[in-house]
Amino acid sequence: MTAEHTSVVLTATATTVAGATPSRRTPRRQRYLVTRPTYFDVVYSINPWMHTDVATDSGLAMRQWENLVATFRRLGHEVEICEGAPGLPDMVFAANAGTVIDGVAVPAKFSTDKRSGEEKPYTDWFRDHVGSVVVPTLVNEGEGDLLWTGRLLLAGSGFRTDPLAHNEVAEALGVPLVPLKLVDPFFYHLDTALAVLDTETAESTETIAYYPGAFSAGSQSALRRLYPDAIIVSRADAEWFALNAVSDGRNVVVPEQAPTFARQLEERGFAPVPVDVSEFRKAGGGAKCCTLILR
Ligand code: ARG
Repeated sequence: MTAEHTSVVLTATATTVAGATPSRRTPRRQRYLVTRPTYFDVVYSINPWMHTDVATDSGLAMRQWENLVATFRRLGHEVEICEGAPGLPDMVFAANAGTVIDGVAVPAKFSTDKRSGEEKPYTDWFRDHVGSVVVPTLVNEGEGDLLWTGRLLLAGSGFRTDPLAHNEVAEALGVPLVPLKLVDPFFYHLDTALAVLDTETAESTETIAYYPGAFSAGSQSALRRLYPDAIIVSRADAEWFALNAVSDGRNVVVPEQAPTFARQLEERGFAPVPVDVSEFRKAGGGAKCCTLILR
């Protein structure tokens, strides 16, 4: 590469980093399912983030959730609201309700009886709102572990979703699937360790971000082969659930506590939209955990 070329590339990069609003990417209007956190609380511990001796602030949780919903609407998305139910304090994490692709829903089957009470209300919701529902027989925790890139279903296992469920889900949804093994209990669901920022369409290509330390050596290698251009996120940002982000292909709703990731997003032409969902972190969740994408 000549010196002239190098300076052109550097100038272009500097402009993007310092530039006001990145405009390289096109947002897609999405439809989301969220669940009101009326009964949200931490009364049991099923992941290392949950401490029953740390109080949750239900008023603050509700305000943070309402702000998340308002943010989605301001970005032009359609938001469907499901009501929570007493005795189901984790039901706010709608990503775990199931997986919906092209009008087919596979509801979750939870790994713990603490959450299995959510299966019926969510399955009923899918029956009323989604074309076709295929009830699974094996444990899968929905979009917590199953992330659609528009081309591939990235499928986590290791803590919650049974690896044998991957075949069942792939068959029901008719999609190619890539199994990924999670090894760090703090990143117990795939959506805490990996974010799909852009999906494969006629106009766009897949872009993902992930925290490598959450994955087994083999899965890290698989991710490098599939996504050599992925955004690599630090553990510090991942611990604020930076990767628990909701992207429409341009706007990426991220925790305000992960500024390094926000800069990485800007460098790649995305527009970070910071929100504070810190109350939900006490239960091991962030923005994406509260959101199911209906396709
Ligand atoms: N307390 C919930 C659990 O452990 C948090 C779920 C977070 N959801 C997610 N999609 N990662 O099941």
